[in-house]
Amino acid sequence: MGRLAVPTAAVLLCQLGLAMAIQWLALAENGSGVSWDRIHHCRLLAGLVPDQVQICRRNLEVMHSIVQAASETKSICQKTFSGMRWNCSSIQRAPSFGPDLLKGTRESAFVHALSAAAIAHSIAQACASGSLPLCSCGSVPSELPGPDFRWGGCGDNLHYGLQLGAAFADSPLKSSMLGLQALRAMNWHNNVAGRQVLSESLDTKCKCHGVSGSCSVKTCWKALPSLGEIASELKSKYLAAIRVSHRLVGHRKQLKPTETDIRVMRDTDLVYLINSPDYCTPNVHLGSVGTQDRQCSKTSAGSDGCDLLCCGRGYNAYMEEVVERCHCKYRWCCYVVCKRCRRLEERYVCK
Ligand SMILES: *[C@@H]1O[C@H](CO)[C@@H](O)[C@H](O)[C@H]1NC(C)=O
Ligand SMILES: *[C@@H]1O[C@H](CO)[C@@H](O)[C@H](O)[C@H]1NC(C)=O
Repeated sequence: MGRLAVPTAAVLLCQLGLAMAIQWLALAENGSGVSWDRIHHCRLLAGLVPDQVQICRRNLEVMHSIVQAASETKSICQKTFSGMRWNCSSIQRAPSFGPDLLKGTRESAFVHALSAAAIAHSIAQACASGSLPLCSCGSVPSELPGPDFRWGGCGDNLHYGLQLGAAFADSPLKSSMLGLQALRAMNWHNNVAGRQVLSESLDTKCKCHGVSGSCSVKTCWKALPSLGEIASELKSKYLAAIRVSHRLVGHRKQLKPTETDIRVMRDTDLVYLINSPDYCTPNVHLGSVGTQDRQCSKTSAGSDGCDLLCCGRGYNAYMEEVVERCHCKYRWCCYVVCKRCRRLEERYVCK
């Protein structure tokens, strides 16, 4: 943790600067209650930097997609990390994040990448669903998807999603607000990585038509996977993230892997500047809430298993009554009736 020994003023500066980068996630909280049909709505909520307010004023209709991206980022991050020591619960604090997301950690790298991907994803799909006036279906590739196939339907407009999404998600990093150069470069890299992972996941979907399922006509379109799938991909990138430092290379400062990391860095790699704490015990200075009272799995050998999750402190067991649907029967026509059964289940929580 040697890198944390920075003078207090510098820490404050970097926290302010970094906080701006994903503050827009705060829109998840109150943004869905706003109708977004008046430009003064753009100033209503905390979390937007001036450039984002500009984008909002010029593209009011897109704000619904951005709010959706903010709430999906929050819920999917928590789902993706639910069994881990750091479980993304601190994302709820938007716009005033803690050190786990303000400093140059892996966790911050993941959240930046996910939120940048989420916003492009949400706009790309809104274009295809016809809810945005300035874009529609994605452009059709020039080569055919295969013999007997043709392009049809309405594909997700990834191009527009990436363009407007990048303008919005990156603008806090462009306006040279406060903040350390290295942190800005890191956030930028991870935003780009998130969008790159999204782009590479664009897939071709096809459907059969024709008289009574003869499949004489096959139409295809380009579609993005769910954001949950993007998040799992990004979680693998998080686990394999590369530690970098911001160093002079020729005349420019660049992010370069630290000596201990000899892998070649790619666009889709997530990068971080400082090592994270183990998140075992509470420490406000490091943004760790600890794992006491977290539910763990007695049988899992993975990160959600009691051994790893409880950091070797052991666990307490208790019984919980679960009520579930059981003895379900199909009734003609057309419904299912079930009974409610109760049973006791043993649960484990970290000491
Ligand atoms: C959301 O609304 C609550 C209650 O109106 C308010 O206290 C809070 O500051 C708002 N949050 C944001 C991020 O605007
Ligand atoms: C995440 O961790 C916090 C703090 O320990 C806990 O309150 C919360 O229930 C956890 N969430 C999940 C989904 O496990």
